[in-house]
Amino acid sequence: MTRITVTVDGVEYSDEVEPRTLLVHYLRETVGKTGTVVGCDTSNCGACTVHLDGRSVKSCNVLAVQADGHEVMTIEGLAPTGVDSQLHPMQQAFHECHALQCGYCTPGMIMQAIDLLKDNPNPTEEQIREGLEGNLCRCTGYHNIVLAVQQGAEAMSSTPVPAGADREGVAS
Ligand code: FES
Ligand code: FES
Repeated sequence: MTRITVTVDGVEYSDEVEPRTLLVHYLRETVGKTGTVVGCDTSNCGACTVHLDGRSVKSCNVLAVQADGHEVMTIEGLAPTGVDSQLHPMQQAFHECHALQCGYCTPGMIMQAIDLLKDNPNPTEEQIREGLEGNLCRCTGYHNIVLAVQQGAEAMSSTPVPAGADREGVAS
């Protein structure tokens, strides 16, 4: 077993893990962040996407020990704290654009969408589809997901960062 210290959604955790433990399993089973889901375990679907030091990674493709000393943001850390029912602008856009059906892909899709906006805050439809190509959805046909990312991008560029916003420019 190896001791790791990881900051997850702004809170520091220190735990013993097996060297082979995947980050997604550490997040779900040890830290309790079950908002991050496992769709395939083979780095194909993107359902497990989180941010590691501010950039998206498929957390089934990262060992927990590789996150030692680093910061992880999950879907559960996006919404502003202390504000009832307030969602991150990208979460709100997915809700308003009906960009989900079963919702299984949604946490990873939202984390990946926010990451792609860091490099390109105003992406075209084609750029959004390209940016999300590692995230699979078996329900929606992607059309409303693309609309949601466009709406989320507009909201994020025009919405002041809420109080308590974290280092990613999103709420903590
Ligand atoms: Fe990680 Fe599918 S569960 S990519
Ligand atoms: Fe069901 Fe995307 S909404 S997999």
